[in-house]
Amino acid sequence: MAPRVYITRRLPQPALELVAAACDVAVWDQDEPVPRDVLLAAARSADGLLTMLSDRIDGELLDAAPGLKVVANMAVGYDNVDLAELRRRGVILTNTPDVLTATTADMAWTLMLAAARRLVEGHKLIEAGGWQSWSPGFMTGHDVSGATLGVVGAGRIGGAVLRRGRGFDMALRYHNRSRSPELEQQTGAQFLPLDALLAEADFVVVAAPLTAQTRGLFGAREFALMKPTAVFVNVARGPIVQEAALYQALRAGRPWAAGLDVFEREPIGADHPLLGLPNLVAAPHLGSATVSTRLKMATTAARNLVAVVTGGAPLNPV
Ligand code: DGY
Repeated sequence: MAPRVYITRRLPQPALELVAAACDVAVWDQDEPVPRDVLLAAARSADGLLTMLSDRIDGELLDAAPGLKVVANMAVGYDNVDLAELRRRGVILTNTPDVLTATTADMAWTLMLAAARRLVEGHKLIEAGGWQSWSPGFMTGHDVSGATLGVVGAGRIGGAVLRRGRGFDMALRYHNRSRSPELEQQTGAQFLPLDALLAEADFVVVAAPLTAQTRGLFGAREFALMKPTAVFVNVARGPIVQEAALYQALRAGRPWAAGLDVFEREPIGADHPLLGLPNLVAAPHLGSATVSTRLKMATTAARNLVAVVTGGAPLNPV
């Protein structure tokens, strides 16, 4: 009998075909998250699940899925998964590293440039009919070229953000759990303690995973350490930042601006307080959102799922 798997979202066709060739597959064929009760019911008879970062994989779900062998999460991050609960039951977790590194690093740069050069504010101003003339002090921002870039969390994505900084003649700094001699050698980036990085950087980019150590890492104290001209960017996970503290800090103008791809509770609505601030550029968690990268993520997750349920080894075990 073919292994039974459940996929929690509509996937690109090649990824779906890959799974269907080896498994008895059911899909929540929508662009919205699968309702919890549907997921719990589907998990009951599943050998494998292909999940999204918006699906909570916890003890309750695992209790409902006695035959489960693998959770193939279609993301590099896996803070939606209770890893301890999985390990206790011997269920394998896989993720999708590497394939989204460049795309997510590009997103960090999109936000850096947009926030520093007031792109969204300028667009809104034109839309509102508020563009009067060219003038020396009109909508001036801050230079990216030649500035100091500080990356917090220098794994694959953080490293790629730093490498791009070389093309902009930036001074490169990073903070990480551990130093990376390889990264330092490749990029010339200098390791700094977090507080020193915050005080020195013109651009602070967060690319760290969400863990017990990084949850709430950026609060009022950290924002107060930044330069009044600094731009703060988060492409990692929303809960790393205390959003209420960021709101107050941006209102007070320190940091000078921010670009966020992620939020404490996603999705956010039009009434989110941060959206009322002119010095905030927001994106709806688009870090990996290109056609080609999403296809690679889906096929990577699909390959991991199939490998485990057919008795093989996972390609990207967490
Ligand atoms: C990930 O893979 O963790 C990203 O957040 C998805 O865009």
